[in-house]
Amino acid sequence: MTNDDLRTRFGIDTSHEWILQRTGIEARRFSAAGVATSDLGLEAAKRALENANLAPQDLDLILFATLSPDHAFPGCGVYLQEKLGLCDGPNAKFVPAMDVRNQCSGFLYSLATAHAFVRSGAAKHVLVVGAETHSPMLDLSTRGRGVATLFGDGAGAVIVSRTEENRGIGEISLGADGRYADVLSQKVWDIKKRPFIDVDADGNGRIEPEQLWPQMQGPLVFKHAVERMKQVMNDVLAAQKWESTEVDLFFFHQANLRINQYVQEVFAIPNEKVISNIQRFGNTSAATLPLLLDEANRSGRLKPGMKLAFAAFGSGFTWGGATMTW
Ligand code: UT7
Repeated sequence: MTNDDLRTRFGIDTSHEWILQRTGIEARRFSAAGVATSDLGLEAAKRALENANLAPQDLDLILFATLSPDHAFPGCGVYLQEKLGLCDGPNAKFVPAMDVRNQCSGFLYSLATAHAFVRSGAAKHVLVVGAETHSPMLDLSTRGRGVATLFGDGAGAVIVSRTEENRGIGEISLGADGRYADVLSQKVWDIKKRPFIDVDADGNGRIEPEQLWPQMQGPLVFKHAVERMKQVMNDVLAAQKWESTEVDLFFFHQANLRINQYVQEVFAIPNEKVISNIQRFGNTSAATLPLLLDEANRSGRLKPGMKLAFAAFGSGFTWGGATMTW
């Protein structure tokens, strides 16, 4: 879906120039009706397993990061487990599965969880999936343009495994500031209400647009994003005892190219050390970092021993940073 497609297909009063200039986005992917977030996650999981030369039965834990799960409950992890064939036949393995609901920092929160399981010896191989199907939950009208023009669908996956080699995940730093929980949110229902959604005489639910669609105070989110991304990057680099100049490749959450350019400037990072895909995918929330990592890997940019640094920020507010030696 190009920026122009949003205008011509959905009649949104926007322009390619506005979206490109403010965000860096040129296009995003919308998956077809009938495709669930767990389906996107399945494709990514299969490729990650293949890359790692592992079978689904080798997994000890499935972590599924998403803000756009197939249903309110259960989470996507169990759908993915079943779709991976883990419940079938004599090789069935009822691997634990859980969802991580941390929006744009969901992948780093999941990575931290996987890291903790593997380090403690509780798991040998953990599948971490970040997948989003934002498109059906976007208000694709002029009313919703402040949010709807930013997001796209996608999925990425990694497998976190134990190694005796001196490489892998280094430091991880996570944070949250719940004072801003309402600033970027989707309150489809309100559990304080009785019943939780307004219901008419026929028993049909009625949801006002402000409640149905995600809402964001963009400039406020922007302001916090640059500060937290900067801070969390500082924290993980200091903990890892790396100078920013030592890092070979930076992976930033892809919410807005201008946020990342600001962080890049603060650390005086040259362009060739930053990888971006917001131009083609828009903001894919929890899928962003594993998508970026996979692209870097498949394009041959990652070489053994390379020093990688990650940072993400999103709704909650929540944020995270990580270092990794490839
Ligand atoms: O991943 C989770 C974290 N999310 C983020 O980090 C997002 C952070 N925020 C942002 O990236 C930016 O705030 C946005 C890209 C969302 C918005 O950019 P902005 O420069 O902050 O614009 P704004 O919200 O202040 O809006 C400026 C104007 C408004 O019109 P008026 O009131 O000045 O007449 C908006 O109605 O731009 C208008 N506008 C649009 N115009 C054309 C808002 N969205 C659009 C649009 N097309 N899609």
